[in-house]
Amino acid sequence: MKNCKLALFASGNGSNAEAIIKYFLADKHVEVAAVYTNNKNAFVLQRAHRYGLAATVFTKEEFHAPAFTRQLQQQGFDMLVLAGFMWLVPPALVAAFPDKIINIHPALLPAYGGKGMYGHFVHEAVIRNKEKKSGITIHYVNEQYDRGDILFQAECPVLPDDTPDTLARRIHHLEHHHYPRVIAGLCRKI
Ligand code: GRF
Repeated sequence: MKNCKLALFASGNGSNAEAIIKYFLADKHVEVAAVYTNNKNAFVLQRAHRYGLAATVFTKEEFHAPAFTRQLQQQGFDMLVLAGFMWLVPPALVAAFPDKIINIHPALLPAYGGKGMYGHFVHEAVIRNKEKKSGITIHYVNEQYDRGDILFQAECPVLPDDTPDTLARRIHHLEHHHYPRVIAGLCRKI
């Protein structure tokens, strides 16, 4: 029986969500059981559909309601995996899943994190500051944007002719490789 049940949260494209779904398709222990999104137009919904996964769209009010947290608990999720999810997680939900909510950020936190630091804004800032390296951070989620304990980081170079797009591609590659593997490691400890 699969003993690590994941819910994925994404707000947009969902390429990380799909990398995770694919990685665990034939896994004996880890099950991606559901996809949640705050955006009814998110491409991640099509990806979920393609893999026959249950997908739920929710509003901000629903997200903050105690019933939402209760429902996630009743579903028996062992971990909530944020992958390109844009909203701050309500404190009650963080408290209900202690050290069981993780996120990925496309930079080397604590640098280039916090409110407003997402997607291309991160890569633009990294290039503007002429950084020589960037990377990814996988971290626990707490009540503040990008401030939970760091679980894993991987670096990549920032090249002199990089644009936000070329850097984003390099970072995505790192994310797709490492995020599923870090999740697998956490699941082994459950
Ligand atoms: C990723 O770069 C992730 O680090 C950030 O948002 C992006 C989501 O990309 N939090 P995708 O939707 O998984 O393609």
